Amino acid sequence: MAPGWIACALVAIDDDARYQLPPGARGARLQGRVALVTGGGSDGEFLGIGAATAILFAAQGARVGVVDVSPERAARTVQRISDLGGEGLVAEADVTDTLACARAADAVAERFGRLDVLVNNAAVSGGGTVVDIDEEEWERLLRVNLGGVMRMSRAAIPHLVRAGGGSVVHVSSIAGMRGLGTAAYAAAKGGVQALTADMAYSHGPEGIRVNCIVPGHLHTPMGFHGSAQTRQVRRQSGLLDREGDAWDAAWAALFLACDESRWITGVLLPVDAGTTATTHFAVRRRLGDV
Ligand SMILES: NC(=O)c1ccc[n+]([C@@H]2O[C@H](COP(=O)([O-])OP(=O)(O)OC[C@H]3O[C@@H](n4cnc5c(N)ncnc54)[C@H](O)[C@@H]3O)[C@@H](O)[C@H]2O)c1
Repeated sequence: MAPGWIACALVAIDDDARYQLPPGARGARLQGRVALVTGGGSDGEFLGIGAATAILFAAQGARVGVVDVSPERAARTVQRISDLGGEGLVAEADVTDTLACARAADAVAERFGRLDVLVNNAAVSGGGTVVDIDEEEWERLLRVNLGGVMRMSRAAIPHLVRAGGGSVVHVSSIAGMRGLGTAAYAAAKGGVQALTADMAYSHGPEGIRVNCIVPGHLHTPMGFHGSAQTRQVRRQSGLLDREGDAWDAAWAALFLACDESRWITGVLLPVDAGTTATTHFAVRRRLGDV
């Protein structure tokens, strides 16, 4: 199948350039590997990080279990994988449900014969300070965004061990290191970062690497706020004067999933156009505001 045809097929489905496979996406970095991506559906009209990651992994030869609380969204991603000539499996699971996580991991391993890579991407957003957040909302965010990482890792790691080792990639957020006024989300994402080092320590001897990408303000379903002004501020909040999208995070996940990063474990990799590498003052000065 010619790469040009692939791009056309994807555009035909969504009529949105964002759905085009990025240049160079076809390859064999994950040939023969099996991956499971949580939150692999794409919410709404934009491609999410989980969906982009699942599609990119498939374009690199992986067979991919797409886990999502929404089977319809997961099916959409699997359809895109099939359109590329790849193999995917819809595995419906709510990451707050321990048994559902185990069933999903088992189903993917059984269907494809092994499991080598886990991407813990599923999350929900939510705002509020510690003073005004509803306690149930606090619990929900921690249960999905931090507890979900623990549950799916617990379900997947025995399969990775059986495969002789593998790679776990967590998806955190710069909200876990910088204040955004989202207390529970921040606490959960900071927890995911802490878990990265701890899991890298615990599972390194089993040949399992555990790393974490830390996305900044990306143009995705969760990060999408449509006004031209917001998009301009998003572009200017980094150092590269360009807006990032789901593919930027997916490329980082691919690197951490494949053997090219075989000596890297326990790291946090910001994918944020340098947002966390500078200060607000410096950015404002650069823009001529001060
Ligand atoms: N978009 C950004 O700017 C940004 C920035 C930093 C971090 N992130 C992180 O990136 C990841 C993906 O975000 P996105 O923007 O692609 O959003 P998204 O909404 O497209 O993806 C989240 C997916 O998770 C699924 N999901 C939600 N709750 C679930 C549950 N309980 N069980 C299973 N699946 C569930 C949703 O159905 C959805 O498909 C998240 O971890 C998010 O916190 C995003």
